[in-house]
Amino acid sequence: MQTFSAVTLAVLLLISLSTTTDAHNITHILDKSPEFSTFNHYLTLTHLAGEINRRQTITVCAVDNAAMSALIAKGLSLVTIKNVLSLHVFADYFGSKKLHQITKGSTSTATMYQATGEAPGTTGYVHITDVKGGKVHFTPEDNPTQTVLYVKSILEMPYNISVIQISEILQSPEAEAPTSAPDLNLTSLLQKDGCKAFYDLLSTSGAIGTFLSTVDGGVTVFCPSDDAITAFAPKYKNLTAEEKTSLLLYHGVPIYNSMGMLRSSNGLMNTLATEGAKKKYDFTVQNVGDVVKLKTKVVTAAITGTVIDDEPVALYKIDKVLLPRELFKGTAEADEPAAAPKAAKKKKKAAKKGDNADAPGPDSSDDDYGGGDAADQTASSGGRLVASAFTVVCLALVFV
Ligand SMILES: *[C@@H]1O[C@H](CO)[C@@H](O)[C@H](O)[C@H]1NC(C)=O
Ligand SMILES: *[C@@H]1O[C@H](CO)[C@@H](O)[C@H](O)[C@H]1NC(C)=O
Ligand SMILES: *[C@@H]1O[C@H](CO)[C@@H](O)[C@H](O)[C@H]1NC(C)=O
Ligand SMILES: *[C@@H]1O[C@H](CO)[C@@H](O)[C@H](O)[C@H]1NC(C)=O
Repeated sequence: MQTFSAVTLAVLLLISLSTTTDAHNITHILDKSPEFSTFNHYLTLTHLAGEINRRQTITVCAVDNAAMSALIAKGLSLVTIKNVLSLHVFADYFGSKKLHQITKGSTSTATMYQATGEAPGTTGYVHITDVKGGKVHFTPEDNPTQTVLYVKSILEMPYNISVIQISEILQSPEAEAPTSAPDLNLTSLLQKDGCKAFYDLLSTSGAIGTFLSTVDGGVTVFCPSDDAITAFAPKYKNLTAEEKTSLLLYHGVPIYNSMGMLRSSNGLMNTLATEGAKKKYDFTVQNVGDVVKLKTKVVTAAITGTVIDDEPVALYKIDKVLLPRELFKGTAEADEPAAAPKAAKKKKKAAKKGDNADAPGPDSSDDDYGGGDAADQTASSGGRLVASAFTVVCLALVFV
């Protein structure tokens, strides 16, 4: 039995590694060439590096330090520099060969600036022209007189990412236009759009301080709706001050997760309440189509809206208070007392089914809790198995 588990674990580890290994890391790629250090630095400062690493089939047009100095000398704000640099990331793969074999000699490509929705009209497009003598020119849509030269290929990973050097910054009046910074003030963001009740709890408990201190490094906040908080109030009152803080911190994750990331990377997520192996305070993220669900062992909540999703801050609304099993062990569907008897009955049946699904993995950490909530179980036992697999893998990673 033990060998079997070990083999299963090894296989699961392999699967997990192969799916979580990022295909590319632009910071790392450019780190090898000091001539691009300023460009590289600004990709990190503007958080574009993360965006680039998450995308596939893209081309990054790097410029050397001298060209970056000319851009910086303009005294643009960081948000504006982000727009300018977004214009240097094409939403298509152009290796050296493709650049020199452009059908009919010219083409145009959308950039990340176009994709952000910040670019008015088609100002986020760049024209690429193959000219005589094997040269390639780049011209921004809204600056037709500029011709920027292709210099060389820095790295090609067909067809994920191509990094090339161009002779100077692509100058786009629209991208360089002053932009107001997005509101990333968590305090004010939390006070609008139906998160007021949650904010009040954060504020009176003092937990808000922990949330605010994580903003710079990236934070994802799941805010239960005002209705959910009101319904939860009697239970909340029963918690000790320390438990209240843990419950609130359980609604924050100390890294930025875009909606796209939540949809594409299902699995366990640590929270601001997590403290070592004993107080795990984690939950499982699982998407059903476009809907992202957060599953504790006690309750399943769904994301119902986005207040802000702008690196490094993401704030989503959820329909239920997340109940960590560390505080609410055994009180399944505790937030829906009216449906309790029926749910409990279903749960028993489902738990049996769950046991069967778990049979091949006797070490599944799920075993100490009598199954999740009823809704989970009806979804699919396959999903449950995957979730269990994630639990095992993540546990293994924690203990290695
Ligand atoms: C990318 O590479 C840089 C520099 O090598 C490193 O500091 C950073 O942690 C890497 N990022 C990821 C997501 O692996
Ligand atoms: C491109 O990305 C995919 C998916 O992440 C990966 O499997 C593949 O190995 C990558 N290709 C290259 C050349 O790195
Ligand atoms: C954030 O917003 C709050 C409330 O609107 C305000 O009191 C605070 O000064 C703001 N913080 C910053 C850094 O702007
Ligand atoms: C609060 O705790 C008391 C005493 O343990 C218990 O009787 C009561 O049912 C609890 N209330 C809720 C809403 O859990």
